[in-house]
Amino acid sequence: MKKMSRAIALFVSLLLVFSLAACAKPQPAATQTEPTQSTAAENTAPAEKKIVLGFAQVGAESEWRTANTKSIQEEAAKAGIELKFVDGQQKQEVQIKAIRSFIAQKVDVIAFSPKVETGWDTVLQEAKAAGIPVILTDRAVDTKDESLYVTFIGSDFVEEGRRAANWLGENAARLGLKENINIFELQGTVGSAPAIDRKTGFEEVMKKYPGWKIVKSQTGNFTRAEGKQVMESWLKSDKDNIDVLYAHNDDMALGAIQAIEEAGLVPGKDIIIISIDAVKGAFEAMIAGKLNCSVECSPLLGAQLMQIAKDVLAGKPVEKRIVTNEGVFPAETAAKELPNRQY
Ligand code: AHR
Repeated sequence: MKKMSRAIALFVSLLLVFSLAACAKPQPAATQTEPTQSTAAENTAPAEKKIVLGFAQVGAESEWRTANTKSIQEEAAKAGIELKFVDGQQKQEVQIKAIRSFIAQKVDVIAFSPKVETGWDTVLQEAKAAGIPVILTDRAVDTKDESLYVTFIGSDFVEEGRRAANWLGENAARLGLKENINIFELQGTVGSAPAIDRKTGFEEVMKKYPGWKIVKSQTGNFTRAEGKQVMESWLKSDKDNIDVLYAHNDDMALGAIQAIEEAGLVPGKDIIIISIDAVKGAFEAMIAGKLNCSVECSPLLGAQLMQIAKDVLAGKPVEKRIVTNEGVFPAETAAKELPNRQY
Protein backbone atom coordinates (compact mmCIF):
# COMPACT_ATOMS: atom_id res chain seq x y z
CA MET A 1 0.00 0.00 0.00
CA LYS A 2 2.86 2.31 0.98
CA LYS A 3 4.61 1.44 -2.33
CA MET A 4 1.44 2.26 -4.22
CA SER A 5 1.03 5.76 -2.63
CA ARG A 6 4.73 6.52 -3.31
CA ALA A 7 4.22 5.66 -6.98
CA ILE A 8 1.13 7.89 -7.18
CA ALA A 9 3.06 10.74 -5.52
CA LEU A 10 5.90 10.33 -8.01
CA PHE A 11 3.46 10.28 -10.92
CA VAL A 12 1.70 13.48 -9.65
CA SER A 13 5.01 15.30 -9.18
CA LEU A 14 6.16 14.35 -12.68
CA LEU A 15 2.86 15.55 -14.09
CA LEU A 16 3.35 18.86 -12.26
CA VAL A 17 6.86 19.32 -13.62
CA PHE A 18 5.72 18.67 -17.22
CA SER A 19 2.73 20.98 -16.99
CA LEU A 20 4.90 23.78 -15.51
CA ALA A 21 7.37 23.31 -18.30
CA ALA A 22 4.60 23.49 -20.89
CA CYS A 23 3.21 26.72 -19.40
CA ALA A 24 6.60 28.40 -19.10
CA LYS A 25 7.12 31.65 -21.18
CA PRO A 26 9.55 31.42 -24.10
CA GLN A 27 13.13 31.91 -23.03
CA PRO A 28 14.36 35.44 -23.48
CA ALA A 29 17.72 36.56 -24.81
CA ALA A 30 20.71 34.32 -25.06
CA THR A 31 19.43 31.08 -26.48
CA GLN A 32 16.98 32.58 -28.98
CA THR A 33 18.92 35.66 -30.17
CA GLU A 34 21.61 33.94 -32.15
CA PRO A 35 19.49 32.36 -34.89
CA THR A 36 17.13 35.39 -34.93
CA GLN A 37 20.04 37.76 -35.41
CA SER A 38 21.48 35.88 -38.35
CA THR A 39 18.08 35.69 -40.08
CA ALA A 40 17.59 39.42 -39.60
CA ALA A 41 21.04 40.10 -41.02
CA GLU A 42 20.20 38.09 -44.14
CA ASN A 43 16.89 39.94 -44.68
CA THR A 44 18.17 43.46 -44.12
CA ALA A 45 21.40 43.35 -46.12
CA PRO A 46 22.38 47.04 -46.57
CA ALA A 47 20.43 48.53 -49.52
CA GLU A 48 22.60 49.61 -52.50
CA LYS A 49 23.73 53.19 -51.88
CA LYS A 50 22.03 55.73 -54.17
CA ILE A 51 24.40 57.59 -56.49
CA VAL A 52 24.40 61.31 -55.72
CA LEU A 53 24.92 63.53 -58.77
CA GLY A 54 25.49 67.28 -58.46
CA PHE A 55 24.46 69.15 -61.61
CA ALA A 56 25.19 72.85 -62.26
CA GLN A 57 22.99 74.08 -65.11
CA VAL A 58 23.72 77.23 -67.16
CA GLY A 59 20.34 78.83 -66.53
CA ALA A 60 16.94 78.94 -68.20
CA GLU A 61 17.68 81.16 -71.18
CA SER A 62 15.92 79.20 -73.93
CA GLU A 63 13.33 76.60 -74.89
CA TRP A 64 16.29 74.29 -75.47
CA ARG A 65 17.60 74.79 -71.94
CA THR A 66 14.18 74.12 -70.40
CA ALA A 67 14.00 70.83 -72.31
CA ASN A 68 17.56 69.95 -71.25
CA THR A 69 16.79 70.55 -67.56
CA LYS A 70 13.61 68.45 -67.82
CA SER A 71 15.53 65.62 -69.49
CA ILE A 72 18.17 65.59 -66.72
CA GLN A 73 15.63 65.72 -63.89
CA GLU A 74 13.36 63.05 -65.35
CA GLU A 75 16.15 60.66 -66.27
CA ALA A 76 17.83 60.98 -62.86
CA ALA A 77 14.54 59.96 -61.22
CA LYS A 78 14.14 57.03 -63.64
CA ALA A 79 17.71 55.86 -63.02
CA GLY A 80 17.29 56.04 -59.23
CA ILE A 81 20.01 58.69 -58.98
CA GLU A 82 19.73 61.42 -56.36
CA LEU A 83 20.10 64.72 -58.21
CA LYS A 84 21.31 67.90 -56.57
CA PHE A 85 20.39 70.52 -59.18
CA VAL A 86 21.55 74.14 -59.21
CA ASP A 87 20.39 76.75 -61.74
CA GLY A 88 23.47 78.85 -62.58
CA GLN A 89 21.34 81.87 -63.57
CA GLN A 90 23.63 82.55 -66.53
CA LYS A 91 26.49 83.36 -64.14
CA GLN A 92 29.78 81.47 -64.16
CA GLU A 93 30.39 82.40 -60.52
CA VAL A 94 27.09 80.76 -59.49
CA GLN A 95 28.10 77.57 -61.31
CA ILE A 96 31.54 77.60 -59.64
CA LYS A 97 29.92 78.10 -56.22
CA ALA A 98 27.56 75.20 -56.94
CA ILE A 99 30.46 72.90 -57.89
CA ARG A 100 32.29 73.85 -54.67
CA SER A 101 29.19 73.06 -52.64
CA PHE A 102 28.90 69.66 -54.39
CA ILE A 103 32.52 68.96 -53.42
CA ALA A 104 31.82 69.98 -49.81
CA GLN A 105 28.77 67.69 -49.76
CA LYS A 106 30.96 64.84 -51.08
CA VAL A 107 28.62 63.95 -53.96
CA ASP A 108 29.64 60.88 -55.97
CA VAL A 109 29.85 62.62 -59.34
CA ILE A 110 29.57 66.18 -60.68
CA ALA A 111 28.16 67.19 -64.07
CA PHE A 112 27.73 70.65 -65.51
CA SER A 113 27.12 72.62 -68.65
CA PRO A 114 29.71 75.42 -68.56
CA LYS A 115 28.30 78.83 -69.43
CA VAL A 116 31.57 79.88 -71.06
CA GLU A 117 34.63 77.90 -72.13
CA THR A 118 37.37 79.40 -69.95
CA GLY A 119 37.98 79.88 -66.22
CA TRP A 120 37.20 76.41 -64.88
CA ASP A 121 40.63 74.92 -64.14
CA THR A 122 40.81 75.87 -60.44
CA VAL A 123 37.44 74.45 -59.45
CA LEU A 124 38.00 71.36 -61.60
CA GLN A 125 41.33 70.79 -59.85
CA GLU A 126 39.49 71.00 -56.52
CA ALA A 127 37.03 68.31 -57.69
CA LYS A 128 39.91 66.14 -58.88
CA ALA A 129 41.74 66.54 -55.55
CA ALA A 130 38.55 65.46 -53.77
CA GLY A 131 38.39 62.37 -56.03
CA ILE A 132 35.05 63.35 -57.56
CA PRO A 133 34.73 62.64 -61.29
CA VAL A 134 33.37 65.44 -63.48
CA ILE A 135 31.24 64.96 -66.61
CA LEU A 136 30.77 67.86 -69.04
CA THR A 137 27.41 68.01 -70.76
CA ASP A 138 26.31 70.16 -73.69
CA ARG A 139 29.19 72.68 -73.62
CA ALA A 140 32.93 72.18 -73.51
CA VAL A 141 35.62 73.83 -71.38
CA ASP A 142 38.85 75.22 -72.74
CA THR A 143 41.62 73.58 -70.68
CA LYS A 144 45.08 72.19 -71.32
CA ASP A 145 44.52 69.49 -68.71
CA GLU A 146 42.02 66.98 -70.05
CA SER A 147 42.35 64.86 -66.92
CA LEU A 148 40.13 67.42 -65.16
CA TYR A 149 37.01 65.81 -66.63
CA VAL A 150 36.17 62.24 -67.54
CA THR A 151 34.06 62.85 -70.61
CA PHE A 152 32.17 65.46 -72.61
CA ILE A 153 28.70 64.53 -73.94
CA GLY A 154 27.03 66.88 -76.39
CA SER A 155 26.61 68.24 -79.89
CA ASP A 156 29.29 69.11 -82.40
CA PHE A 157 28.61 72.86 -82.56
CA VAL A 158 31.14 73.48 -85.34
CA GLU A 159 29.30 70.94 -87.47
CA GLU A 160 25.99 72.67 -86.67
CA GLY A 161 27.43 75.95 -88.01
CA ARG A 162 28.63 74.14 -91.14
CA ARG A 163 25.22 72.55 -91.63
CA ALA A 164 23.50 75.95 -91.41
CA ALA A 165 25.83 77.42 -94.05
CA ASN A 166 25.68 74.36 -96.30
CA TRP A 167 21.90 74.48 -96.25
CA LEU A 168 22.04 78.14 -97.28
CA GLY A 169 24.51 77.36 -100.06
CA GLU A 170 22.34 74.57 -101.41
CA ASN A 171 19.09 76.57 -101.27
CA ALA A 172 20.13 80.18 -101.97
CA ALA A 173 19.17 80.21 -105.66
CA ARG A 174 15.80 78.51 -105.01
CA LEU A 175 15.07 81.18 -102.38
CA GLY A 176 15.76 83.95 -104.86
CA LEU A 177 19.13 84.97 -103.43
CA LYS A 178 21.92 86.14 -105.73
CA GLU A 179 25.64 85.49 -105.47
CA ASN A 180 26.18 88.43 -103.16
CA ILE A 181 24.47 87.78 -99.87
CA ASN A 182 24.45 90.10 -96.86
CA ILE A 183 24.19 88.14 -93.65
CA PHE A 184 23.25 89.36 -90.17
CA GLU A 185 24.50 87.05 -87.45
CA LEU A 186 22.89 86.82 -84.02
CA GLN A 187 25.53 85.22 -81.84
CA GLY A 188 24.99 83.21 -78.67
CA THR A 189 26.49 84.10 -75.30
CA VAL A 190 29.94 85.63 -75.71
CA GLY A 191 32.68 83.13 -74.84
CA SER A 192 30.35 80.11 -74.83
CA ALA A 193 31.27 77.01 -76.82
CA PRO A 194 28.16 77.08 -79.03
CA ALA A 195 28.66 80.75 -79.95
CA ILE A 196 32.34 80.27 -80.77
CA ASP A 197 31.89 77.00 -82.65
CA ARG A 198 28.74 77.86 -84.59
CA LYS A 199 30.47 80.98 -85.89
CA THR A 200 33.59 78.99 -86.79
CA GLY A 201 31.64 76.29 -88.66
CA PHE A 202 29.53 78.79 -90.60
CA GLU A 203 32.54 80.91 -91.59
CA GLU A 204 34.48 77.83 -92.66
CA VAL A 205 31.81 77.03 -95.28
CA MET A 206 31.51 80.72 -96.25
CA LYS A 207 35.00 80.46 -97.79
CA LYS A 208 33.38 78.58 -100.68
CA TYR A 209 31.10 81.57 -101.36
CA PRO A 210 33.12 84.75 -101.96
CA GLY A 211 29.93 86.80 -102.41
CA TRP A 212 28.70 86.12 -98.88
CA LYS A 213 29.40 88.78 -96.28
CA ILE A 214 28.58 88.99 -92.56
CA VAL A 215 27.67 92.66 -92.33
CA LYS A 216 26.39 92.60 -88.75
CA SER A 217 27.29 90.28 -85.90
CA GLN A 218 26.29 90.76 -82.30
CA THR A 219 25.29 88.68 -79.31
CA GLY A 220 21.66 88.14 -78.41
CA ASN A 221 22.71 85.97 -75.46
CA PHE A 222 20.62 83.02 -76.65
CA THR A 223 17.41 84.74 -75.47
CA ARG A 224 14.27 85.73 -77.35
CA ALA A 225 14.18 89.18 -75.75
CA GLU A 226 17.75 90.08 -76.71
CA GLY A 227 17.36 88.60 -80.20
CA LYS A 228 14.41 90.92 -80.72
CA GLN A 229 16.22 93.96 -79.28
CA VAL A 230 19.32 93.52 -81.44
CA MET A 231 17.26 92.92 -84.58
CA GLU A 232 15.17 96.05 -83.88
CA SER A 233 18.24 98.22 -83.71
CA TRP A 234 19.77 96.67 -86.86
CA LEU A 235 16.54 97.19 -88.80
CA LYS A 236 16.49 100.86 -87.82
CA SER A 237 19.86 101.46 -89.44
CA ASP A 238 20.16 98.69 -92.06
CA LYS A 239 16.70 97.58 -93.09
CA ASP A 240 17.61 97.40 -96.79
CA ASN A 241 20.97 95.83 -96.27
CA ILE A 242 19.96 92.36 -95.10
CA ASP A 243 19.31 89.18 -97.09
CA VAL A 244 19.83 86.48 -94.50
CA LEU A 245 19.63 86.20 -90.72
CA TYR A 246 21.77 83.46 -89.18
CA ALA A 247 20.81 83.04 -85.50
CA HIS A 248 22.86 80.79 -83.22
CA ASN A 249 19.64 79.51 -81.65
CA ASP A 250 15.91 79.35 -82.32
CA ASP A 251 14.93 81.62 -79.45
CA MET A 252 16.92 84.55 -80.83
CA ALA A 253 15.47 83.87 -84.30
CA LEU A 254 11.94 83.88 -82.87
CA GLY A 255 12.60 87.21 -81.13
CA ALA A 256 14.07 88.62 -84.35
CA ILE A 257 11.02 87.43 -86.32
CA GLN A 258 8.83 89.62 -84.11
CA ALA A 259 11.09 92.62 -84.75
CA ILE A 260 11.06 91.93 -88.52
CA GLU A 261 7.24 91.81 -88.57
CA GLU A 262 7.00 94.97 -86.50
CA ALA A 263 9.30 96.67 -89.00
CA GLY A 264 6.83 95.79 -91.79
CA LEU A 265 8.94 93.06 -93.44
CA VAL A 266 7.99 89.45 -94.08
CA PRO A 267 10.24 86.99 -92.20
CA GLY A 268 11.11 83.93 -94.26
CA LYS A 269 10.62 85.85 -97.53
CA ASP A 270 12.09 89.37 -97.32
CA ILE A 271 14.71 87.98 -95.00
CA ILE A 272 15.75 84.32 -95.17
CA ILE A 273 16.19 82.97 -91.63
CA ILE A 274 18.28 80.01 -90.46
CA SER A 275 18.71 79.07 -86.82
CA ILE A 276 19.88 76.22 -84.62
CA ASP A 277 18.20 73.89 -82.07
CA ALA A 278 15.01 72.65 -83.82
CA VAL A 279 12.73 73.22 -80.82
CA LYS A 280 8.95 73.04 -81.23
CA GLY A 281 8.68 76.85 -81.41
CA ALA A 282 10.93 76.79 -84.49
CA PHE A 283 8.78 74.13 -86.14
CA GLU A 284 5.68 76.27 -85.58
CA ALA A 285 7.46 79.27 -87.10
CA MET A 286 8.55 77.14 -90.08
CA ILE A 287 4.99 75.90 -90.61
CA ALA A 288 3.85 79.55 -90.54
CA GLY A 289 6.47 80.29 -93.24
CA LYS A 290 8.46 82.67 -90.99
CA LEU A 291 11.60 80.58 -90.52
CA ASN A 292 13.36 78.77 -93.38
CA CYS A 293 15.51 76.17 -91.66
CA SER A 294 16.49 74.94 -88.22
CA VAL A 295 19.58 72.82 -87.61
CA GLU A 296 19.04 70.30 -84.85
CA CYS A 297 20.82 70.45 -81.49
CA SER A 298 19.37 67.88 -79.12
CA PRO A 299 18.89 68.80 -75.45
CA LEU A 300 17.86 65.24 -74.53
CA LEU A 301 21.11 64.36 -72.81
CA GLY A 302 19.66 63.09 -69.51
CA ALA A 303 19.54 59.33 -70.18
CA GLN A 304 23.09 59.27 -71.55
CA LEU A 305 24.37 61.32 -68.62
CA MET A 306 22.85 58.94 -66.03
CA GLN A 307 24.29 55.88 -67.77
CA ILE A 308 27.72 57.45 -67.99
CA ALA A 309 27.61 58.50 -64.34
CA LYS A 310 26.88 54.85 -63.41
CA ASP A 311 29.61 53.54 -65.71
CA VAL A 312 32.23 55.97 -64.41
CA LEU A 313 31.45 55.06 -60.80
CA ALA A 314 31.54 51.36 -61.67
CA GLY A 315 35.04 51.89 -63.05
CA LYS A 316 34.02 51.11 -66.63
CA PRO A 317 35.94 52.90 -69.40
CA VAL A 318 34.05 55.75 -71.11
CA GLU A 319 34.80 57.65 -74.31
CA LYS A 320 36.41 61.06 -73.78
CA ARG A 321 34.01 62.64 -76.29
CA ILE A 322 30.46 61.46 -76.98
CA VAL A 323 28.80 63.31 -79.87
CA THR A 324 25.01 63.58 -80.21
CA ASN A 325 23.37 62.49 -83.48
CA GLU A 326 21.44 65.33 -85.13
CA GLY A 327 19.79 66.40 -88.38
CA VAL A 328 18.71 69.45 -90.37
CA PHE A 329 15.06 70.52 -90.70
CA PRO A 330 14.13 72.80 -93.60
CA ALA A 331 10.66 74.46 -93.47
CA GLU A 332 9.28 71.98 -96.02
CA THR A 333 9.70 69.12 -93.54
CA ALA A 334 8.26 70.93 -90.51
CA ALA A 335 4.58 69.94 -90.67
CA LYS A 336 5.44 66.25 -91.01
CA GLU A 337 8.11 66.36 -88.28
CA LEU A 338 6.39 68.47 -85.61
CA PRO A 339 4.24 65.62 -84.18
CA ASN A 340 7.47 63.61 -83.62
CA ARG A 341 9.29 66.33 -81.74
CA GLN A 342 9.89 65.74 -78.04
CA TYR A 343 11.03 69.26 -77.20
O1 AHR B 1 24.49 75.06 -75.41
C1 AHR B 1 23.39 74.83 -76.19
C2 AHR B 1 22.75 76.12 -76.53
O2 AHR B 1 22.41 76.81 -75.37
C3 AHR B 1 21.45 76.02 -77.31
O3 AHR B 1 21.63 76.06 -78.67
C4 AHR B 1 20.78 77.25 -76.87
O4 AHR B 1 19.45 77.35 -77.23
C5 AHR B 1 21.07 77.20 -75.43
O5 AHR B 1 20.68 78.22 -74.69
